[in-house]
Amino acid sequence: MSTSLSICCLGAGYVGGPTMAMIAAKCPDIRVTVTDPNEKRIAAWNSDALPVYEPGLQQVVESARNRNLFFSTDVRKAIREADIIFVSVGTPTKTYGVGAGRAADLKYIESAARMIAEESVGPKIIVEKSTIPVKTAEAMLTILRSNSKSGTFQVLSNPEFLAEGTAIEDLENPDRVLIGGEQTPEGLAAIEKVAAIYARWIPREKILATNLWSSELSKLVANAFLAQRISSINSISALCEATGADVDEVARAIGKDSRIGPKFLKASVGYGGSCFQKDILNLTYLCQHFGLPEVAAYWESVVKMNDWQKSRFSGRIVSDLFNTVNGKHIGILGFAFKKDTNDTRETAAISVCRDLLAEGAKVVVYDPQVSEEQIRADVLGTGTNPNPNLIVVKTALEACDGAHAVAVLTEWDEFKDLDFQKIHHGMLKPAFLFDGRNILPHAKLKEIGFRVFAIGKPA
Ligand SMILES: NC(=O)c1ccc[n+]([C@@H]2O[C@H](COP(=O)([O-])OP(=O)(O)OC[C@H]3O[C@@H](n4cnc5c(N)ncnc54)[C@H](O)[C@@H]3O)[C@@H](O)[C@H]2O)c1
Repeated sequence: MSTSLSICCLGAGYVGGPTMAMIAAKCPDIRVTVTDPNEKRIAAWNSDALPVYEPGLQQVVESARNRNLFFSTDVRKAIREADIIFVSVGTPTKTYGVGAGRAADLKYIESAARMIAEESVGPKIIVEKSTIPVKTAEAMLTILRSNSKSGTFQVLSNPEFLAEGTAIEDLENPDRVLIGGEQTPEGLAAIEKVAAIYARWIPREKILATNLWSSELSKLVANAFLAQRISSINSISALCEATGADVDEVARAIGKDSRIGPKFLKASVGYGGSCFQKDILNLTYLCQHFGLPEVAAYWESVVKMNDWQKSRFSGRIVSDLFNTVNGKHIGILGFAFKKDTNDTRETAAISVCRDLLAEGAKVVVYDPQVSEEQIRADVLGTGTNPNPNLIVVKTALEACDGAHAVAVLTEWDEFKDLDFQKIHHGMLKPAFLFDGRNILPHAKLKEIGFRVFAIGKPA
């Protein structure tokens, strides 16, 4: 097959893998190589057990793999062969030095830029896919231009807006594609080259071109606004519990206002995921850096509300269980940060499980997609902490059998169809059920005999 263009992606994670697979599937004439030094991850992308669970991903990958989609650990070779290089490496919150706990750690971005500079010959377009602080493109350009002997570079910002769990749907039919670049003839030509790839399957009116800084900042702002809506409705959930209002009714009532809209108004045990928290912290750090402490404090409150909601939930379990969970069996249904993903980064389940273990509970966890190894590492750390009070089981019924209380922490569809009569029968009495996602039929559960606590619902 003749190739019109060669692209590569640095980073075969939750973003790099699915986004590149979609481009390859939609553009059979473009050679797409996804690279990562992580051998285990690349081997998994080349196998039937992909490292990322997303509905529909397997089919998209299989439609293009070894045709025009390749997964490789040879990062340098892929850079040399590519016309366009997407950088989709991690940008976690810094854990050390200046900005620790807030700023984005750009060490992977910088090492990617240095590697690209070393290997590049001739013109290359570098596309920031990772979520990064405003002005990162400037730093990348400086590194590229001062370290490359014969490469010439245009750096674009093309942040990814996919949501885990619906990544394939979002990539197939995104609300928009954002491409920022230098407002020079060369910059505009580079924007058009990348826009033309997306235009193979996305209507032109959805492809937005902006300057670099608007594009970089828009990604952080989009995540901050989304997280803010969740924290807003979660703050109201506490008021609903105190007053007898019902948070779902309030959400429905306000969501009918076309200025507010109905989405992202679902109260829960708290948002998780790799992005919201880190991107807001990054935004607050930027605000501080640019001398805007009031703006920083405003956005920081979104994170504080989320932390409070998580600890409020575990606190409620302890207080309802007569102020002690010591030695009690608490079944945990769901560990992923949301349904239809195996991602557990920043999941509320980590805090809840840790809180309950700290109170001496026996915590029995079931999640349909997250491995025992992952759950143990997330809750106990990667050391050799063998805490026997954390138990991971293979079915929801096992998690609930013999429990004093059951807590739903992820909204997996299968939990809605559980045989709660049977579960109630197998639990100690009174049997408590804490619905951290408000997905269960509460009235029916009460009829069965459960004591039900649901977020933002009248007692
Ligand atoms: N996960 C999401 O839902 C999501 C959505 C939108 C944007 N983002 C952003 O996209 C970026 C990537 O996120 P992710 O969830 O895919 O991260 P991830 O941790 O799953 O994957 C990052 C990968 O980059 C690899 N890597 C590091 N340095 C490399 C290098 N020099 N060359 C090649 N590979 C290298 C790592 O080994 C890792 O496998 C982050 O900035 C994130 O904020 C994530």
